[in-house]
Amino acid sequence: MSKKAASIIAGQIRSKPSSVLGLATGSTPLGTYKELIKMHRKEGLDFSRVTTFNLDEYYGLGPDHPQSYHRFMEENFFSKINAKKRRVHIPDGLTKNVGAFCLRYEEMIKQSGGVDIQLLGIGRDGHLGFNEPGSSLGSRTRVKTLTEETVRDNARFFSGQEKVPKLAITMGVGTILDAKKLLLIASGQVKAEAVRDSVEGPVTSSVTASALQLHPHVTCVLDEPASRLLAQKYYYMYVEKVAETIEAEARI
Ligand code: PGA
Repeated sequence: MSKKAASIIAGQIRSKPSSVLGLATGSTPLGTYKELIKMHRKEGLDFSRVTTFNLDEYYGLGPDHPQSYHRFMEENFFSKINAKKRRVHIPDGLTKNVGAFCLRYEEMIKQSGGVDIQLLGIGRDGHLGFNEPGSSLGSRTRVKTLTEETVRDNARFFSGQEKVPKLAITMGVGTILDAKKLLLIASGQVKAEAVRDSVEGPVTSSVTASALQLHPHVTCVLDEPASRLLAQKYYYMYVEKVAETIEAEARI
C-alpha cells in the first residue's frame, strides 16, 4: 500500500516539480513517507519546489508539543527531505483568532493554485481529516470537536485518554473535494467497514469519506484486509488489470 501510494505521489512530483501536496498524519501514511524519503535519498526525488498543506492539527497544541502534527510531520517527513520550510503549511493549533486563521488557510491554498494531490487516511468512523460524522459535505477549514471514538483511537499516542485534545482545526470536506486528485490509503481489518461505507455506501455526512464518490479523480490504495467487505472488490481488481494491459500495449 505504502509503495503504491508513494509511487503515485512521486509521479505527481516528477510530472510537476512545483506540485502542491495535501498531506495527512496518523499511522497509515507513515510507510508512504518512508518510501518517499527512500526515493529522495536513492533516486534524488526533489521536494525543493513542492508546496504542502496538512489536513489538520490539534487545537491547543503548539508546534513543539510531542503529539502535535507539526512535530509528527517534522520527525517523520520534513526533516528527512529537502522541502523548503516557507512552502510547508500546517494549521496553527495555537492561533489566537481561529476564525481568521481558518479563512487565511483556505486563502493560502487557493493562492498556491490549489492542491494537486491530497493524501488521505480514513478513521474507523469514516472521517477524513477530522471531519467527524455529521460534518457538512460542503464544510471548509474550521474547528471540529473530536468524537469519543476518535479520542480513544488517538489516545495511544498520548499518555492517557484525558490528554487527547478534544478539538482540532481541520480542512473541511469541501476543502478536500477541491483538490485536483485524491489519494485515500487504508490498511487493516479495522478500516474495512469504513472503506466499504465510503466507497459503496450512500453519500452521507454520517460517513464523510463517502463524499469521495462526488470527486472526479480518486484513487483508493487498500491492503487485503481493508478491502475485505467491498462487494465489487473483484470488479475493481479486474478494472486495474485491464488498465495495466492497455497501458502495456500502448508502450509496445
Ligand atoms: P490512522 O488514522 O492512520 O492512525 O488509522 C487515520 C485517520 O484517523 O484519519
